[in-house]
Amino acid sequence: MNKDMYKPIPIYDNVSWDLTSEACHILLIAPSGAGKTLCLSYLSAMVLKRGHKILLIDGKNTALGATFKSIGVQVATNPNEIIIMLENLVDEMEHTYQNYFRHNEIDLDTNFSKLNLPATILIWDEVLSGLDSGTPEQRKKMIKLLKQLALKSRMSGTGILVLTSQRILSTDLPKSITEQCQTRLLMGANISEELFHVTLGGYKKDLAAGYHGGVGKGYAITPKTGLTYFEAPYMDFSKINFKELLEKLVHKNNE
Ligand SMILES: Nc1ncnc2c1ncn2[C@@H]1O[C@H](COP(=O)(O)OP(=O)(O)OP(=O)(O)O)[C@@H](O)[C@H]1O
Ligand SMILES: [Mg+2]
Repeated sequence: MNKDMYKPIPIYDNVSWDLTSEACHILLIAPSGAGKTLCLSYLSAMVLKRGHKILLIDGKNTALGATFKSIGVQVATNPNEIIIMLENLVDEMEHTYQNYFRHNEIDLDTNFSKLNLPATILIWDEVLSGLDSGTPEQRKKMIKLLKQLALKSRMSGTGILVLTSQRILSTDLPKSITEQCQTRLLMGANISEELFHVTLGGYKKDLAAGYHGGVGKGYAITPKTGLTYFEAPYMDFSKINFKELLEKLVHKNNE
């Protein structure tokens, strides 16, 4: 087993992503071009490095999706594929739960890491446009499945969510999903009061002149740190061959 499997993934300063904590689900909001996909590239590389599994929803057919596909990661791009991916994930989560947790004594701290199980991370880049791309029926189904994952996946580690969007209103996603995303990241220069409020729960004006957002920078909130400035780790793809890097990371874990 990879000895660092459950080691939190560093993001910036005290901000890190602990897959085993109550803050395992991430909501990442940033206007177009502010660095969502690049941040996801970093997070997914770290997840693979630790020996976990990734599923990607990429409705925009980006280079990230193409790279993932080419190394054998499952990628869903349209509502039908998304629903199948989510249904399979919910099944897998129930299965893990039944197999490993139902008969064990359940204490509040029990989770997949105690059983040395790998996690499966669902990365959904542009979740709102993905939901909008479906019929009202499909949208309902996708939201219902997301809710199930958000509520119950922490214990089994199957279906940990990383959701991104360019925008979000308080009515866009049910509270039962957003409230489970206890790691919130907001990046970008021109962030409205409302976007700030919906994403981070506070008011931007409380930061007065102290708001320093931009490409790859903004504010994070986690249960450990509270509201804090953060910068997303940068990967220079003119120097890093991302596909090669991912292949190496996956290969290392399969040795
Ligand atoms: N942390 C960073 N530091 C410096 N440059 C960055 C950083 N993150 C992203 N960039 C650069 O900004 C550009 C846009 O990044 P990215 O595609 O990740 O944004 P996005 O939010 O996903 O945009 P879109 O909404 O269009 O999908 C890229 O050229 C990328 O190299
Ligand atoms: Mg993007």
